[in-house]
Amino acid sequence: MYISINKAAEILKGGGIVAIPTETVYGLAGNAFDETAVAKIFAAKERPFFDPLIVHIAEFGEIEELVAEIPKNAKILAEKFWPGPLTLVLPKKDKVPNLTTGGLSTVAVRMPKKQIARDIIKLAGFPLAAPSANMFQHLSPTSAEHVFEQLGGRIDGIVDGGACEVGIESTVIGFENETPIIYRPGGVAMEMIGHPVSFAATPLKEGNLISPGLLEKHYSPNTPLCLELPNEIPPNSGLLAFGKLPENSSRFAKILNLSENGNPIEAAVNLYGMLHKLDSCKLSKIFATLLPKAGLGNAINDRLLKARGTA
Ligand code: TXA
Ligand code: MG
Repeated sequence: MYISINKAAEILKGGGIVAIPTETVYGLAGNAFDETAVAKIFAAKERPFFDPLIVHIAEFGEIEELVAEIPKNAKILAEKFWPGPLTLVLPKKDKVPNLTTGGLSTVAVRMPKKQIARDIIKLAGFPLAAPSANMFQHLSPTSAEHVFEQLGGRIDGIVDGGACEVGIESTVIGFENETPIIYRPGGVAMEMIGHPVSFAATPLKEGNLISPGLLEKHYSPNTPLCLELPNEIPPNSGLLAFGKLPENSSRFAKILNLSENGNPIEAAVNLYGMLHKLDSCKLSKIFATLLPKAGLGNAINDRLLKARGTA
């Protein structure tokens, strides 16, 4: 199951699908131009076909095969943040299959920072469609073991590149008349972008989706997640803390702290790993509190709200 990057490239060239590390989360990769490979990705994740995939490139020049036109602001953002945790949604070329883009006329493109990811793209020789390597609506993977737990028997291999350095998915940005719109907050904080940017109204309902990843329930653990701390802590509860612990913390059966000194960058790195760990502790409930709305706090809060879903 665990394979080298050369083996991964060989499998990808043969139309297979493999999990690869990136700096954000692990991705489940296949040839973005090969509808059969892309269909395998949707099938393995049990992801609905309307939810489009991100296409990963190794060099800026590769964007020309994918994109019909690059708005000026998109180019500025790519120059500033690529390689890195930024995805740009741009008008697609016909060569990109509709299956890859969920039937949309746009394609989401990202150049990952993680060297292993770019090496695999180069060895394969084509851009890689890669959503996060988890089952649809479940927790994203930030280690090869996380991928194995969810997708082990369903895919052709996993490249183990260690832990993900950023730990939270890329920021997804689209353009409406040159104005950048954030469809999903992520690893590049809004304050870093610097342009006049706005958030897409979220959550959007199914059937009216600019970016289908804005679905309300997403990134969920199996254990119910609650974002308000009650006075009475129910038995066998877990706490996903951030910074200083609450006064009643001794009532929790298990506590993991995203960042003891309240650093949102460290919290992003720990987020999914700690949720995976708490989820495996057979707790009756997991409690967490939202972070201050600054820097990566916005992206983390977005994931926590979606992880809660309607639970
Ligand atoms: O960091 C990441 O972005 C990771 C790594 C593997 O690169 N990938 C990832 O993929 O998070 P996924 O499929 O879990 O999330 C892709 C997001 C979804 O919210 C999807 O709706 C949005 O990108 N998206 C993809 N193509 C789009 C398009 N053409 N228009 C609008 N949104 C799009
Ligand atoms: Mg995902």
